[in-house]
Amino acid sequence: MITSAPIGIFDSGYGGLTVLKEIKKLLPDYDYLYLGDNARSPYGARSFETVYDYTLQCVKWLFAQGCPLIILACNTASAKALRTIQQKYLPVHHPEKRVLGVIRPTAEIIGNYSSSKHIGILGTKGTVQSDSYLIEIANFFPDAKVYQHASPMWVPLVENNEYTDSGADYFIKKDIDILLNKSPKIDTILLACTHYPLLLEKINQFLPENIKVVSQGPIVAGSLADYLKRHPEMEARCSKQRNLQFFTTDAPSDFDKHSEIFFGEKVNSRHVNL
Ligand code: DGL
Repeated sequence: MITSAPIGIFDSGYGGLTVLKEIKKLLPDYDYLYLGDNARSPYGARSFETVYDYTLQCVKWLFAQGCPLIILACNTASAKALRTIQQKYLPVHHPEKRVLGVIRPTAEIIGNYSSSKHIGILGTKGTVQSDSYLIEIANFFPDAKVYQHASPMWVPLVENNEYTDSGADYFIKKDIDILLNKSPKIDTILLACTHYPLLLEKINQFLPENIKVVSQGPIVAGSLADYLKRHPEMEARCSKQRNLQFFTTDAPSDFDKHSEIFFGEKVNSRHVNL
């Protein structure tokens, strides 16, 4: 009997699809099961307790579907829930399974993009308030100076498909200016939110040419490939039939309609009640 053991990819909503898109490009042979908690998204401004509760429910559901490994493809969930899941939940309930996030793999590498070692971070309020990037980047690049700014209007601009409109310009320029005003030496900006890569074209319009913008999808994909190489026992447990499944806690018709802009191709999702 062939049993399916897909890699679980979780996000509060659609944003994680920008990460799955890159993972699938780099590692096409694996099975993936995507869960978007659209009914309760956005997570960006929610408390630690709430983000932890919601994320844990989703992690439990993905484990119940047979996932041996889950990627929290959401910065807010990685910032507010991952550590407690790894340190408190997994050792007691699933010592043989793993949950990974997007912050550490990004922090490991982001300093290499910057010559000045002055790095700007844009994310949700929750991600910025958690200081997760400050703490993680300091571990890998102790000399780097990190400046953060929350841009909470950017997620709704993307979710409501208003992000290419001229109305979006005001919020994009405003948040970039606030970040850049923190230091004239910033030469690299990390988009530390899964939605923001969709705004790349607009972001670049408002940035001086010498400033690099970094999206996380390719970084997280590369880091997963590396993880699977370093953990052959986990790699062997992940099934490889190129099967892709999508689940949402909200209406599948809405999910399917909005997903294409994040994933680059049509998806067929199913509803799940958590
Ligand atoms: N996926 C979230 C993140 O990367 C953004 C959307 C939300 O606030 O739920 O932080």
